[in-house]
Amino acid sequence: MTPGKRKAGRGFYITTPIYYVNDIPHIGHAYTTIAADILARHNRMRGLPVFFLTGTDEHGQKVQKAAEARGLSPKAHADRMVENFKTLWKTLDISYDGFIRTTDPEHKKIVRELLQRLWDGGLIEKRSYTGWYCTPDERFWTEKDLIEGKCPDCGRDVEKIEEQNYFFLMSRYQNCLIDYIEGKSFSMGNIAYIGNPSYIRPDTRRNEVLGFLKSQPLGDLCISRPKKRLAWGIPLPFDEEFVTYVWFDALVNYYSGPQYLAPHDASWWPADAHLIGKDILTTHAVYWSCMLMALGLALPGTIFAHGWWTIEGKKMSKSVGNVVDPAEICGEYGADAFRYFLMREIPFGHDGDFSKSAFINRFNTDLANDLGNLLSRTLTMIEKYRGGVIPGPLTTKFRRKQYKEIDGTAHELVLEGDVQDGFLSLEEDRTYERHIGEMNFYAALSQLWEIAVRRVNKCIEDSAPWKEKDGDTLSNLLYTFAESLRVIAIYVYPIMPSSAREIWRQLGMEEKVEEDIRKNPGHFEWGGYPIAGLKVKKGGALFPRIVTITEKITSTEKVEIKKETLKMQEAKANEVAETQKSDNGNLIGMEDFAKTELKAGKVLRAEAVKGSNKLLRLEVDLGEEAPRQVIAGIGKKYSPEELEGKTVIIVANLKPARLMGLESRGMLLAATDADGTLSVLTADRDIKPGAKIK
Ligand code: MSP
Repeated sequence: MTPGKRKAGRGFYITTPIYYVNDIPHIGHAYTTIAADILARHNRMRGLPVFFLTGTDEHGQKVQKAAEARGLSPKAHADRMVENFKTLWKTLDISYDGFIRTTDPEHKKIVRELLQRLWDGGLIEKRSYTGWYCTPDERFWTEKDLIEGKCPDCGRDVEKIEEQNYFFLMSRYQNCLIDYIEGKSFSMGNIAYIGNPSYIRPDTRRNEVLGFLKSQPLGDLCISRPKKRLAWGIPLPFDEEFVTYVWFDALVNYYSGPQYLAPHDASWWPADAHLIGKDILTTHAVYWSCMLMALGLALPGTIFAHGWWTIEGKKMSKSVGNVVDPAEICGEYGADAFRYFLMREIPFGHDGDFSKSAFINRFNTDLANDLGNLLSRTLTMIEKYRGGVIPGPLTTKFRRKQYKEIDGTAHELVLEGDVQDGFLSLEEDRTYERHIGEMNFYAALSQLWEIAVRRVNKCIEDSAPWKEKDGDTLSNLLYTFAESLRVIAIYVYPIMPSSAREIWRQLGMEEKVEEDIRKNPGHFEWGGYPIAGLKVKKGGALFPRIVTITEKITSTEKVEIKKETLKMQEAKANEVAETQKSDNGNLIGMEDFAKTELKAGKVLRAEAVKGSNKLLRLEVDLGEEAPRQVIAGIGKKYSPEELEGKTVIIVANLKPARLMGLESRGMLLAATDADGTLSVLTADRDIKPGAKIK
């Protein structure tokens, strides 16, 4: 038995992490799931049997607590929350084959069987464990984790607790795991593991795991929790007073899922790839790998840890309130555009930033201008010049200019041949395949746009079909554009399934892209499907351009805005220069303060300003010949009656201003706190109107 070896032609088994039911699904969950979906669709289309597993992680302290807070049982709580994920996967066009919930009875049974096997094999031991327990966080810490004797997470007091627990003897597998990751093969018992240097990807993550494994002795893993502290989990088969540690339970999903959720005709384990985020690398690369070796099971083909998204440059968090809801973006711009953006914006494995402006930019450039426009102009020409019917490819020769780099310089080549011949060559297909196979979606898409979408658009511009006199050449060109679109749709399909189908539909095809290619792999090829003679069905724009507010305004308005912006920039620059002049930053000197004339004044009369629910008109005695009219924006917090007779503080040397057509000569001082409570400043003692405040 050689569990480390991939069985040729067996199929393709891909997984996502199983998500905690407590969270509302966000961009991070969507990211991994979309990437897995792309690989599933890509392989299915190529005729491989595929099993794509996703699901939810439903046990543990957090779920128990959240359920309690809602007055529900943990299972009832999970039953409700799981729907959020299922609904989002529908919106995002996720074609999963199995959805596992760790509360499924079949999964629980398998977890208990595996635990029993490890226990029977002497690979689990009961030990007494002493640790520092943070009650509010419900977490154990070791002595060295503590920061100044407090919980490193929340900074609160910790309590020393001694308790009995069960430990999986993970430390035994440290060296084997290092060997395996480094590509060295070994046998354990009667099992041969064939080392796999691509086990952990990308390389940065592989090095991280190797660094961790080589720098310290690997400890054993505590895999139980006493029921008195946590009831919501799978009871240990050999001691019902304990439940299984949530990560042990969760990781087993990859092995248990296919056993009851996949078609029975295939044995799916090991998975070809586990896609995960970088934060859960250790649990997968170390815990899971050791668990599998201890059970004598094969290791998965690859564990790929992708990066994290920040939002508009900031860490995504509920408290900042910047959590991106994928359903909202899809509702506005479509699921395909969201899928495309996530895969095209950053290489899988890197961290990235999601910003509205970057999204709109990509949408308008790559999708509306390049792909959408290619479809619409091709179909318009077919309608205009060929009555809406795709012309047949003719054998007439064509001449095409192409630039090729030879010895570092670009040479212009004039190619001659059949227009339809090899426009998108197989050579290029292989690179695309390689990129997708390596999960380099970013490179696959940039290549596809460069060698296909933009190239065909350029060919349209260069050949200017609208000027063509020769009917045969025009037919050849129109055929070439339509056939290019058909092939582009096939490549685009795993990333943007609905758009690919829509391109095929508008080209007049009845078939669905994926199903057709699976049944007829020959249709993948250039000219492999007879599109000549099809009546096109031009529809609305594939990706209607997103018009931003700045684009909507007229050019005169733009000039005005530009002037305003320049003024603001100038004012800002002056302000900065002024601040820099003073060593004290934003502190002011006495001479500055002395410029402000503050005076006590008595409110003689107060009334609401007609047409405003905020402004009050005050007549204030400042000890001058006549009372001053002051317009104050305090009408929502003070009634006129409350103010009459009060001694208030007025900025007396402000330039007059006009508010709602009334002149205001001075400003009333009031304080506002963060809650919006407003209080007018008054004098503590009876003081004559006009008294100066110094
Ligand atoms: N339940 C565990 C996984 C068990 S797998 C056997 C878990 N669940 S989770 O709901 O917290 O999953 C989160 C997944 O979303 C992780 O892969 C994590 O990396 C990913 N992301 C969470 N926030 C993210 C971003 N801001 N950006 C990208 N992915 C992020 O962990």
